[in-house]
Amino acid sequence: ALERTFSILKPDATARNLTGAVNAVIEAAGLRIVAQRRIQMTTKQAETFYAVHKERPFFGELVSFMTSGPVVVQVLEGENAIAKYREVMGATNPANAADGTIRKQFALSVGENTVHGSDAPETAAVEIAQFFSGNDIVG
Ligand code: CMP
Repeated sequence: ALERTFSILKPDATARNLTGAVNAVIEAAGLRIVAQRRIQMTTKQAETFYAVHKERPFFGELVSFMTSGPVVVQVLEGENAIAKYREVMGATNPANAADGTIRKQFALSVGENTVHGSDAPETAAVEIAQFFSGNDIVG
């Protein structure tokens, strides 16, 4: 089915000027960037976004990393976009990521792992709605 997924190019990506390089991988995979904005996430936004992880030992580190510099928030559209983007990103830990994936090419560590992508249709809808309104998305 035609789906939309939510993507973040994380601070380690913007710090290394990799926005275009990561977007090239996304587009080469057949995903369309139908909304995109560069922002400085607030602590509150990051805590809301990652609320599901708030009991994890790395939560504080995750929120501080995600607010450490600019991020690029995006909506990606395509056939099976959610699963396809997860395949294109590669495993969360770059040490386990397959060749050709974004994380294999660019990620520095399990925390500084270059990109986020939604894991299911329900989370995609919630994540997209946190950062974009309907008018921002042009398919
Ligand atoms: P993301 O897909 O953005 O969602 C949760 C994030 O938590 C995940 O990517 C990782 O970057 C991060 N994460 C997972 N495990 C760890 C860890 N052990 N230490 C720091 N960050 C982690």
